Amino acid sequence: MVYNATALNGDSLIDTDPGKPSTLNTLRDKWNKEFSSGKWDFLRRNSEQKRLQLVAQMIERQLNETDGGCVVDLGSGEGHLCNWLDGKRVRQYVAVDISDVALNNIVEANIPVTRICESLAKYSLDENLQAAPLVIVANEVLYYEPDSVDQLKRIAEGQKHGCVVLVSVVGPHPDKPNWTASSIRLWKEIDQLGWHKLEAQVVKDEESGVVWDIVAFEIAPKEKC
Ligand SMILES: C[S@@+](CC[C@H](N)C(=O)[O-])C[C@H]1O[C@@H](n2cnc3c(N)ncnc32)[C@H](O)[C@@H]1O
Repeated sequence: MVYNATALNGDSLIDTDPGKPSTLNTLRDKWNKEFSSGKWDFLRRNSEQKRLQLVAQMIERQLNETDGGCVVDLGSGEGHLCNWLDGKRVRQYVAVDISDVALNNIVEANIPVTRICESLAKYSLDENLQAAPLVIVANEVLYYEPDSVDQLKRIAEGQKHGCVVLVSVVGPHPDKPNWTASSIRLWKEIDQLGWHKLEAQVVKDEESGVVWDIVAFEIAPKEKC
């Protein structure tokens, strides 16, 4: 399902019989409730902006000013990344998220925004995006479903012209053993994909001690796979 900024509204997102709640609708309800209740408001804080700024800088290193390119932000949330992107290099920002509440909160900046309310499991890239230099971002989104890395692989490796994938995962934290286990599992799964690593960076919020590992990968064109 694809919506532009004006067409997006809650009713149009129900894609199954309302009498039979699907897993998708259950998940969407959960995330919508959490965004509505303010649980994710902390993502707007300054402490998160350092991470987003670094992701934006890494994206810019992959796109030149002459051709520009397109950024597909999987699990974009309220699209805070968009505020840091360089409009000279990023021609289009595609925000993909399961929560229409989050997508509705995206503030239009100087880059055209396309909002797609979809789960990672169901999302596929549009044909026209496949022609553009493309950066796919998975920024703090891979934790939530057991097959998230498989879905990222499906989306990224389906590209005719190849693409760059940028992954951000929270690093180990002494007070958060679940995070540590989750990030170890995710990087292990990602390593097994055998993707060529272009760049790896670490960013830390000094106040909370939270660290994020951010890695850019080059994905070969489909024909050459
Ligand atoms: C922790 S937030 C990260 C938001 C943003 N990427 C950032 O870095 O600030 C996780 C986001 O992933 C979305 N999400 C969770 N599970 C998803 C799924 N299966 N498919 C698509 N989006 C999902 C949530 O709605 C939420 O917006």
